[in-house]
Amino acid sequence: MNRRIPNRPAARTNLGHYGHGTEAHWYEPRNLSEAERSVFREMAKKSSEAKRRALSGICISPVHAINFPRLKPELLMPQLKRNGLRCLSLFSGGGGLDMGFDRAGFDHVASYEILTAAGQTLSANRPHWKVFSGDIGNVSNVDWRSYSESVDVIHGGPPCQPFSSAGRQLGHKDERNLFPEFIRAVLEIKPTVFLAENVRALANNKFKGFVQEFILKPLSQEYRILTFNLGASSFGVPQVRTRVFFLGLRKDKPLNYNPPEPTHYYDHSGTGHRDKPSLLRLMEASSLERCMGAREALGLPDIGFDALAPTIRSGLTGPRHTTSILSSVSALKRWHQLQIWPNGVAKGRQEASKFVPDNEHFRLSVPDCALLQGFPASWCFSGAVYLAIGQIGNSVAPPVAYHLALSILKAFCSSA
Ligand SMILES: C[S@@+](CC[C@H](N)C(=O)[O-])C[C@H]1O[C@@H](n2cnc3c(N)ncnc32)[C@H](O)[C@@H]1O
Repeated sequence: MNRRIPNRPAARTNLGHYGHGTEAHWYEPRNLSEAERSVFREMAKKSSEAKRRALSGICISPVHAINFPRLKPELLMPQLKRNGLRCLSLFSGGGGLDMGFDRAGFDHVASYEILTAAGQTLSANRPHWKVFSGDIGNVSNVDWRSYSESVDVIHGGPPCQPFSSAGRQLGHKDERNLFPEFIRAVLEIKPTVFLAENVRALANNKFKGFVQEFILKPLSQEYRILTFNLGASSFGVPQVRTRVFFLGLRKDKPLNYNPPEPTHYYDHSGTGHRDKPSLLRLMEASSLERCMGAREALGLPDIGFDALAPTIRSGLTGPRHTTSILSSVSALKRWHQLQIWPNGVAKGRQEASKFVPDNEHFRLSVPDCALLQGFPASWCFSGAVYLAIGQIGNSVAPPVAYHLALSILKAFCSSA
């Protein structure tokens, strides 16, 4: 399956190994002065010393008991029986989109992902899946034509760094722009439906020209394409997280498609958000369910304040490895109000409880971050903490992916 196409420009094969992360060409090393570097070194030294002391018991006693989450993400996406439709997953990461389609009853023909740790996550959770990771998972190296009769849906989230507001937003000038590879796969396989996901910034005016020229134009001869945003809390995920989706339907196979409708609402009234009370009453009277706040979802005690968790940032898209999920200054303020510490995420709940932050707020662990992203507790992430939270922060919240998959399933059923 992994044959190089003759006469194509040399694909990026010289990418090293992807077991850790920094080796991949799309990680930008940060340009630090020696003075800045030594400040970071000092901070890291202090933090690992505090962690070592905490974990060996030389510390203030745990302030927070180990939490038992109230949110059960699996209930947001009940497992459906197999529906016979086949997906190909590109840029699979730690499996947010893959899980949503899987739980909606789709089968995966194969998943392609360059990071070895993310590939290991997929294989460990779904040993029967055909997962290509590392060099053989590099989508640039694959001739897709052999899949042409065996795929109904292609889904994938090309890396967001070229568009993310946290980066330089170079768009098509950024060599990490892999939309052309996604488009090549679609045009070689010609699935009935494709779904591409990215950060909301890609829907901004700044990238209007890019979207038109590099996504819509090459595909719109054969596909009718819908562009829409979805927010994670509209599907019960306790996080502020909006993503843009491009959904294409093959013109010669007319399907009747409608984007997913929200299943949940969040009551912002306790957070100073300017939500109109009448709108809230309307929501309550509707059939929508209430989305939990971050504290409630994590099973933390009531402090008289709760809110959606700020967007979880993926450390993998930043300039250095980090165990922080902090995305902005306003996010820091919100985490502070929530009395949750978003830095130095611990591997497990037990370690988090032992390692008390200076401000005595609740320290997050990898399973907590996964929960706030809508992953069921049974889905485990491979790799060190920074790789695990990197996969989580990069993912489509699985309940959102599930409802997208259901909307596609309905379209197929409508044409049957
Ligand atoms: C935004 S994440 C996708 C997240 C995924 N859709 C999910 O829901 O979990 C983009 C992924 O593309 C992967 N990637 C980057 N370059 C790649 C390449 N050339 N081939 C395959 N995967 C690549 C990254 O390692 C990253 O996991």
